[in-house]
This record gives sequence, structure tokens and C-alpha cells, in this order.
Amino acid sequence: MLDQLTAIQTNTQAAIELAKNPQDIENLRIKTLGKKGELTLLLKNLGSLQPEERKEMGKKANEVRDVITSSLESARTNLEAIAQEQALIAEAVDITLPGRSKTLGHIHPITSFMWRLEDLFISLGFDVVEGNFIETVYNNFDALNTPQSHSSRDESDTFYIDETHLLRCHTSPAQVHIMETGKLPIRVISPGLCARYDDIDATHTPAFHQMEGLVIDKGINFGDFKGMMEIIVRYVFGPEAKTRLRPSHFPFTEPSVELDISCYACNVDKPRADCSVCKASGWVELWGCGMVHPKVLEMSGIDPTVYSGYAFGLGITRMTSAQFGIPVLKPYYENDMQFLGQF
Ligand code: DAH
Repeated sequence: MLDQLTAIQTNTQAAIELAKNPQDIENLRIKTLGKKGELTLLLKNLGSLQPEERKEMGKKANEVRDVITSSLESARTNLEAIAQEQALIAEAVDITLPGRSKTLGHIHPITSFMWRLEDLFISLGFDVVEGNFIETVYNNFDALNTPQSHSSRDESDTFYIDETHLLRCHTSPAQVHIMETGKLPIRVISPGLCARYDDIDATHTPAFHQMEGLVIDKGINFGDFKGMMEIIVRYVFGPEAKTRLRPSHFPFTEPSVELDISCYACNVDKPRADCSVCKASGWVELWGCGMVHPKVLEMSGIDPTVYSGYAFGLGITRMTSAQFGIPVLKPYYENDMQFLGQF
């Protein structure tokens, strides 16, 4: 039994030396001193010894237990301290490292372009009013003199919500709201989102921005209108930009024109044969405009024999991309931060 006691002590001491963490120590304690531990079982056998031998072995066994217990305790204290130290090192924050910077967002290029234009119009005495993205069929088409047969009324062109409501396909219905307030003269712009049933390609998106303009007063003529178009173009594209008015047709204006500017990607006098922006024409189409049709004035309660005016629907997305010299519209609506982050 003495040999067994010595072996238990030697082996346990050796195992304590090898323990790596407090859990190893706990396992050793159970293995040796636990209910079914090696030393505990040995002590149970003491009863079978002669009284003399039992006394001696009992004494020796207690010594071994005390030695093992105190070795286990000191190893546990030591390993716990090491574990705590390691945890502190692992959790340490290096306050000398540079912080992680947060990228700051910025205003969307279309919005900032619209704000810039609004500044121009406000400086010219215009009011800015908001129209409705969800419109009545009446305001979007009928009150703007659009015939029943007009292709834009088709369900394949316009998003209908029900028989009488739709997502406006242009900002022009804002004209109706403005005229129906009955306040004259009118000098108003109305920017906003429009929607059309268009397939997405580089230059078409189902949602896009326009800015409607409407000026109505006594004696407004085509010269006033043309002057205003020039002011807008020079403000946005600089004094070098040339303009061209091309006859067109809109149900709500008479005469109606399309405004083109000299190509910003090549040269209007000598257009490049491979220019993808102007398709070698030297001109880029920017917006529709014209003198307000007398019928439109009449329908909104304004006497066309006393008042006249002009209207324009600026293609904001197209103007923004022209201003940046990027002849595609699609990326402006894709939330691609690599693209939008450039502006
Ligand atoms: N609403 C037209 C469109 O989306 C643009 C337009 C043309 C607006 C002539 C006008 C205008 O106010 O007078 O194509």
C-alpha cells in the first residue's frame, strides 16, 4: 500500500506539472481525490489492515492527500492567474490604432442639380410647388387637352392604379393644380418624379425626374419664352452652349417645340461621326416646351383672350447626365455607390 500511495503522489505531481489550465487541475482533483478517486478508494481499503499498519498507512495517506491538495490548489491559483492574463491580452484594445473612418453620404446628384435649378428660378421670381406623383387621369391627360386616342394614354405606356388614377407620366399635371388655384399671374416651377412603362436601357428608366415650368400673365409672348429657355441653358451649360428650337407637338402647347443644345461631347459645327451622345447630329434633345394652348387655359378657368403663357418640362435626369457629360440615365437610379460616390 505504501508503494501505491507513493505512486499516486508521484503520478499526480507529474500530471500537475503538465496541466495547462484550471480545468485540467479540476479533472486531476476528481481523478485522485473525488468520490471515486484513486486515493479515496485506497483509503477505503485501510479497514482491512492490521491496527498497527492501519495507523501508519492512515498517517501516510493523510500526508499524501495534504500534499496533493496543496499542490493542486497552488497550481490552480497559478493557472487561473495565467488564464486571466491571457484573456486580458486577447481583449485588449490598442488605443494607438487609427479609428475606422465612416464614409459620409451626400446629396444625390439629381437632387442637388434640382436644387441648383430651383435657386435660379427663385432668383427670377418663380415659386416652387410640389405636384402629386399619384394623379387623376383627368389632370394627367384630359385637362391638358390630350385626345382619347393619344398613345400615352395606353396601358402599355402609363402605369394605371385604377380607372381614374395613375402614376403621372410627366410633371405637366402640376400646371392644372397651379392654374386652378385661380391666382394670377403665374410664375411657378414644379419638380418631381414621373413614371412610364419603359423598358430599362442606358437612356430609359421607368422612373425619372422632370421639372415643370409655367408662366402666365397678360401679354406673354414667344420672345419671353425663348429668352427664358436661353437663360436656363446658359445657367446650366455655360455661355458657350448653343440652343435650337425644333417644331414639335404636345397637346397642351401651341406652338410646341423641342429644345436642343449643342452637343457637350463633341462639336456642333463639326460633329464627330462616332459621337454616341448626339449620334453625329451635333445636337442633344433636352426638353419639350411651348406656348400654353388656349384650350388648356380655358379648361382651368383662365380667359385666353386676356392671358397667355408658356410652359416647359425640363428633363432633369437627362440634364443632370448632360451636365456631368455622362450620356446614360440608368445608373442614377441603381443606388450603385461606386457610380453615385463620384459626384
Ligand atoms: N410633358 C412633356 C413630356 O413629358 C414635356 C413638356 C412639353 C412639358 C411641353 C411642357 C410643355 O410643359 O409645354 O414629354
